[in-house]
Amino acid sequence: MMAKILVTGGTGYIGSHTVVELQKEGFEVIIVDNLSNSNIDVLNGIEKISGIRPAFENIDCVDYVSMDRMFEKYPGIEAIIHFAASKAVGESVEKPLLYYRNNLVSLINLLQLMPIHKVKNFVFSSSCTVYGQPDELPVTEKAPIKPALSPYGNTKQIGEEVIQDTIHSNSFYKSIILRYFNPIGAHPSAEIGELPNGVPNNLLPFVTQTAIGLRKELKVFGEDYNTPDGTCIRDYINVVDLAKAHVISVKRLLEEKGESPVEIFNLGTGRGLSVLEIIQTFEKVNDVKVPYQIVGRREGDIEQVWANPSHANNVLGWKAQETVEDTLKTAWTWEKRLAKLREEKKQTEE
Ligand code: UD1
Repeated sequence: MMAKILVTGGTGYIGSHTVVELQKEGFEVIIVDNLSNSNIDVLNGIEKISGIRPAFENIDCVDYVSMDRMFEKYPGIEAIIHFAASKAVGESVEKPLLYYRNNLVSLINLLQLMPIHKVKNFVFSSSCTVYGQPDELPVTEKAPIKPALSPYGNTKQIGEEVIQDTIHSNSFYKSIILRYFNPIGAHPSAEIGELPNGVPNNLLPFVTQTAIGLRKELKVFGEDYNTPDGTCIRDYINVVDLAKAHVISVKRLLEEKGESPVEIFNLGTGRGLSVLEIIQTFEKVNDVKVPYQIVGRREGDIEQVWANPSHANNVLGWKAQETVEDTLKTAWTWEKRLAKLREEKKQTEE
């Protein structure tokens, strides 16, 4: 068995896919998650894919004392991948203190506990949201950080600064900050995938839920942007590809290959797709209709952003592999799986 890795938020969307990829590479995984936006059944999905049930602790990373005990219980953790965070932009505008507390106190607790428990290596989930609307596209890691448009976005910017300042003050730590573009899709086995709580905020779960009939129609937010078809452009990245970047990052930290104590990488495909292109491609590859209506712009939306992933390609040695067509197929297979599970549940209740 290789190194022990702590994955906070390991039952969440990106977390669960990363756990599977870590296990595939022989790492021993400990998940800490308070299940605030995920389901304990995800552990069954992980076990079905990898054949290994990861250790699981239902703890809120905001709870310093419980986290301290957790590190005592699992001595020898060598790296942390910190996913656990609240991520709904709209909710963060309504409940800023919840977001600042959850996202920042969790991070500070982990950074404080790391030297006490001799854990040196830290991978942080950040977002392309830190770039706002970049002046140049595709966006590189050198692009300036723009004022955050939401408390959620601000927690990612402040989080990156907290890590930078901590590492600047103490050479004990090593960190890799990963700036995700738009993760989509599900594991090809359809054992794990995205499980949005209530009405989805993000585009893909709304597309799949509309296609399956859970939602009447998709609202396309704005067609008067300065883009070829007038709708916003994003860099949609396969979630398994994204998960693999975390495994590579952990290995890089453990092998002490970093060029500096903190390294930052964009994780995207390098290709921008519009909302309409996503809908059309989804319909075509899955042979299913997605009824939609064009409505007004969504407040705070960025017009267009896609990654220059060269730094991750050349330095990290990671590249997005999956096509958007295949990724959109996995998203649909997962939604159909969820529909089947709902049907089975209904039948057992009757
Ligand atoms: C959003 C957040 C971003 C966060 C990411 C996490 C905003 C402004 N940004 O990114 O900070 O890191 O989620 O997952 O909220 N769209 C529709 N109809 C819908 C849903 C979305 O047309 O029902 C469009 C949006 O206008 C956007 C694109 O689809 O152009 C992608 O939206 P979404 O999936 O919410 O991601 P982001 O806005 O890029």
